Amino acid sequence: VITTFGGWSLFNHAVSAPRFDNALFLPGADGPFAVLAPNKPFTLVAEQGWLPVPGREETPFLWYRTQMNGHEYQNPILLLRTGDELDVTLDNQLDEGTIIHWHGLHVPGRVDGHPIHTVDPGEQYEYRFKVTNRGGTYWYHTHAHHRTARQAHQGLASFLLVSDDDNEALNEALGLELGTTDLPLVLQDKRFDRLGHLVYRPNPMQGMMGYLGDEVLVNMTPAATHEVERRIHRLRLLNGSTARIYRLALRAEGQAIPFRVIGTDAGLLESPREAREAFLSPGERLEVLVDFAAFAGGDRVELHSLEFDPMAGGGMGGGMMGRGMGGGMGRMMGGGMHDGDPLALLEFVVREGEAVTAEVPERLSRIEPIDVTDAGERDIRLDMAPMQWRINGETYAPDRVPIEVDANTREVWTIRNADRSMPHPMHIHGFSFQVLSRSGGPDFVRQQAVNDEGLTVTDLGWKDTVLLWPGETVRIAIDFTHHYDGDQLYVFHCHNLEHEDNDMMVNVRVRA
Ligand code: C2O
Ligand code: CU
Ligand code: CU
Repeated sequence: VITTFGGWSLFNHAVSAPRFDNALFLPGADGPFAVLAPNKPFTLVAEQGWLPVPGREETPFLWYRTQMNGHEYQNPILLLRTGDELDVTLDNQLDEGTIIHWHGLHVPGRVDGHPIHTVDPGEQYEYRFKVTNRGGTYWYHTHAHHRTARQAHQGLASFLLVSDDDNEALNEALGLELGTTDLPLVLQDKRFDRLGHLVYRPNPMQGMMGYLGDEVLVNMTPAATHEVERRIHRLRLLNGSTARIYRLALRAEGQAIPFRVIGTDAGLLESPREAREAFLSPGERLEVLVDFAAFAGGDRVELHSLEFDPMAGGGMGGGMMGRGMGGGMGRMMGGGMHDGDPLALLEFVVREGEAVTAEVPERLSRIEPIDVTDAGERDIRLDMAPMQWRINGETYAPDRVPIEVDANTREVWTIRNADRSMPHPMHIHGFSFQVLSRSGGPDFVRQQAVNDEGLTVTDLGWKDTVLLWPGETVRIAIDFTHHYDGDQLYVFHCHNLEHEDNDMMVNVRVRA
């Protein structure tokens, strides 16, 4: 569908005829995004450097630099095992405040990266904690108060992978190896200026609604292509965009290629589940297996984001704020690519050679459903006041704590998106949850239900972020078990990072 407003095409970036000409950036032995399994205390220096972008010029980039065992790393992909200690010092060498948050990890409030812990330029912050999470694809990123979106867009984010017995058993059974056949892939939409420098310059409308890039990079590679052997690959997909939602699907010769979803935010599912598409909103992770053994040498398999209407279900009918809006506002909002536009993200080219077949285990892990028999109940309402999104009528105030919970309890939250203008990916720090039900959303979401409760495949397993479409109600069960001393302070917020920076966030106190 080509929609034109006054001669200006919504799809003026020719996404229908993609050319993939840059080799996908993969982690090396050191340098940017290399895998680092720390075996001693280390320092992450937040600073500005210059990142080579495949097929492009170098760009100014914010990163976390560190050294270990004679190697230098920038934004290392941290690799830990359940039970490991992480002992790291943030050294802020930026010219503004920053703080690191460990997204998805169960840690005490002091080391969580709450925005009140933002440290000034030249200052340091010490983190020391035990990784108690199950194996999974986590990540770490800036949580600087009111500066998270820009700092994350400019680079301050990377993976934190946790390994455990289940993960090792799976990789062993399938002969997978991190960095070659087990691939961390971060999806981020960005904008570059004429010099090839990353730009984060939202106009007031974008600064409020969300800053959308005009191209999507995978592992900081624009138009990425990657050669694969004829065997199963594990893709660890992270939506590291500030605001863009993806509707992921695989295509070969225009045909839909099914894949197996094996994990979500906080690790493996109980068993693999076949899917043809999956939504991924900012902050969420999805782990999938793709079997390239079924293809012939020279075949191309593309990762796409399919079209959708992000305002559908809101009752605005793609009206005022939607993609159907007039050209003037359209330009202000996205300037070329709207959320929900069809996009080609990444191409896999299958190599010639013997196919290696492997049996995918039926049992990946064990997920104990959260016992909600005497769980507390809480209603959360998302809505919009003029120019301001709210959570139960609140916007972020450092000294207000709208949500107080007792430690070692479970709560069921019924979250309702009464904001009819936008979807909101909601995220809680410090704890994981399970999605119980999803209802009232747009047709294209309901059509993807994988069970009677309306869950999509992205909702399965252990989660820390869940997407609420306009008009939807989502129920989640949260496990507030921890063994720390004293009260702990966290946040619950929208992971559209522009919304977060616009204070769509509340404090959560977990009382000892
Ligand atoms: Cu990934 Cu508070 O965020
Ligand atoms: Cu987080
Ligand atoms: Cu939001």
